[in-house]
Amino acid sequence: MTKKNAGSLSVIGLGPGGDSQRTEEASEALERAQVLFGYAPYLERVPSREGQQRCASDNRQELDRARAALEQALAGKHVGIVSGGDPGVFGMAAAVCEAIESGPGEWRSVPVTTFPGVTAMLALAARVGAPLGHDFCAISLSDNLKPWEAIESRLRAVVSAGFVIAIYNPISRHRPWQLGRAAEILKEYLPTTTPVAIGRAVGRIEETVRIVELEGFKPEEADMSTCIIVGSPVTRIITRGELLPLVYTPRSMPTLKTSST
Ligand SMILES: C[S@@+](CC[C@H](N)C(=O)[O-])C[C@H]1O[C@@H](n2cnc3c(N)ncnc32)[C@H](O)[C@@H]1O
Repeated sequence: MTKKNAGSLSVIGLGPGGDSQRTEEASEALERAQVLFGYAPYLERVPSREGQQRCASDNRQELDRARAALEQALAGKHVGIVSGGDPGVFGMAAAVCEAIESGPGEWRSVPVTTFPGVTAMLALAARVGAPLGHDFCAISLSDNLKPWEAIESRLRAVVSAGFVIAIYNPISRHRPWQLGRAAEILKEYLPTTTPVAIGRAVGRIEETVRIVELEGFKPEEADMSTCIIVGSPVTRIITRGELLPLVYTPRSMPTLKTSST
């Protein structure tokens, strides 16, 4: 008996920039897809293939895009849905899961495979040294899907716990002040000399990477293609003459003294 649904859905991480930073299995999944869904600028990064249908949509339409992709997969197509960086990091993988959870029961029969990619914070960290060498966290400053109060309280919690912080979605036309406010909070807790790495369009032709100290950090340097890594109090900068400095967070920390020891 032929199975009704022979289609599939691949959620494909494109990596931060060009083809060379994309995994081989992600490239193969892109090639196999009969239909590709994605945010238009991401789809433009994928070489076109004859016979492959493309469905581009706007940035904020993740859930609609996921639903449309699931419908096509249910109809028997091998569908790909692309995400910049890694699909599981503030990307399409969660949107697909949300669509399945809230959608018709038959969507649960669609085989879904996620192909990971190099996420922005890893691409940036690799450019500047090893800022994520000890405990770190990632936070999106977008308050489109969560209240700003939650972002502030999470920032305070992680900065006071000594984490290195990778900031995604720092600023946009619709969210112009949030990064400035986040910087004010970080400055309340961290030394003014804390290293900050600012990576714009990392891995793409227009890439820029800068290392500054927190005191000199200017939110207007960032745009929506920027990832920012804010060091912890022990993150440091090694200057190297003419070579670019290295930013790193040591792997070890001193043992905490408790009152019973
Ligand atoms: C919706 S999130 C998607 C993150 C993506 N899934 C990832 O794993 O990198 C978009 C944010 O990722 C960051 N970003 C994505 N690509 C980047 C790149 N090439 N360079 C710097 N930041 C990037 C920016 O902070 C941007 O605002």
